[in-house]
Amino acid sequence: MVERAGWCRKKSPGFVEYGLMVLLLLLLLGAIVTLGVFYSIALRDSSLKSDICTTPSCVIAAARILENMDQSRNPCENFYQYACGGWLRHHVIPETNSRYSVFDILRDELEVILKGVLEDSTSQHRPAVEKAKTLYRSCMNQSVIEKRDSEPLLSVLKMVGGWPVAMDKWNETMGLKWELERQLAVLNSQFNRRVLIDLFIWNDDQNSSRHVIYIDQPTLGMPSREYYFQEDNNHKVRKAYLEFMTSVATMLRKDQNLSKESAMVREEMAEVLELETHLANATVPQEKRHDVTALYHRMDLMELQERFGLKGFSV
Ligand SMILES: *[C@@H]1O[C@H](CO)[C@@H](O)[C@H](O)[C@H]1NC(C)=O
Ligand SMILES: *[C@@H]1O[C@H](CO)[C@@H](O)[C@H](O)[C@H]1NC(C)=O
Ligand SMILES: *[C@@H]1O[C@H](CO)[C@@H](O)[C@H](O)[C@H]1NC(C)=O
Ligand SMILES: *[C@@H]1O[C@H](CO)[C@@H](O)[C@H](O)[C@H]1NC(C)=O
Ligand SMILES: *[C@@H]1O[C@H](CO)[C@@H](O)[C@H](O)[C@H]1NC(C)=O
Repeated sequence: MVERAGWCRKKSPGFVEYGLMVLLLLLLLGAIVTLGVFYSIALRDSSLKSDICTTPSCVIAAARILENMDQSRNPCENFYQYACGGWLRHHVIPETNSRYSVFDILRDELEVILKGVLEDSTSQHRPAVEKAKTLYRSCMNQSVIEKRDSEPLLSVLKMVGGWPVAMDKWNETMGLKWELERQLAVLNSQFNRRVLIDLFIWNDDQNSSRHVIYIDQPTLGMPSREYYFQEDNNHKVRKAYLEFMTSVATMLRKDQNLSKESAMVREEMAEVLELETHLANATVPQEKRHDVTALYHRMDLMELQERFGLKGFSV
């Protein structure tokens, strides 16, 4: 028995044992490799998970993007429909708007928040906010606005040199001491209205550590220069604009108990529109103003004075 066992141990068991051991080692290696692979996948998954923002605002933002897409469309065929199809399906342009976008929605939401802040009379805010609240209240106080009627406008007109069409004898009274540059300065500095020339102080485009006076073309009464001479629908807008000017002047004359003089008012307002049309024609179209460096012509006050002859700019 012993001898057999000894034989056995020496011969075939040794061979089998060896084979089994190699097999076991291979299996162990396989197990370790598999475990390693699983582990690394698990690790990658968890790190991926921590890269994804799952806060409520992220989830809402992601949902909004998905909602505004139309994933049933093939982006290679119609990318616009794929990217914006959901938006087009869910939104209608309101009658009061000419467009409707995320920014319009944000602005509406912001206005609701601002309204809450401005109408909140329970808490005391910083002085600037308190001023805004006072201004807001004065704009909303309709009874007082109705009672004051055109009186605030008339006193402003007096400050800026009067409006000849809404006055009698402007030539003999205010006209005597009227000075273009002075009125432009008053309008700009006290009412933030830049007529005829746009003039403001801002950081120098080519050296932000110093401030310079900018002089630019003015914005016009109507939204852009095309309104003044292009045909098609603008013709209707021009007519309404003239009508508006005429009715404001007529109302102001009436409030001051002046005679109606509709023919004179109409004629003067037509002249105003004509002057504004010339100004509009002299302005550079918006599409030619994209290159900021082309608009930059720095000069000193002396040169400005020589080229434009403005009063009050002399050094
Ligand atoms: C409007 O203003 C008047 C006078 O300042 C004030 O007495 C009145 O309470 C105001 N009304 C509102 C609704 O704020
Ligand atoms: C005011 O004076 C200007 C220039 O002298 C003149 O053209 C205009 O007709 C006068 N207007 C009135 C209403 O007298
Ligand atoms: C920019 O303006 C400041 C202040 O006038 C001046 O000190 C500085 O030299 C200017 N820099 C250049 C590059 O002109
Ligand atoms: C205009 O007449 C009315 C009524 O006679 C009067 O109450 C008002 O004060 C007058 N306005 C001016 C600006 O003279
Ligand atoms: C605008 O100005 C140009 C050039 O001075 C002139 O030819 C054109 O007739 C003007 N157009 C209008 C509508 O005034």
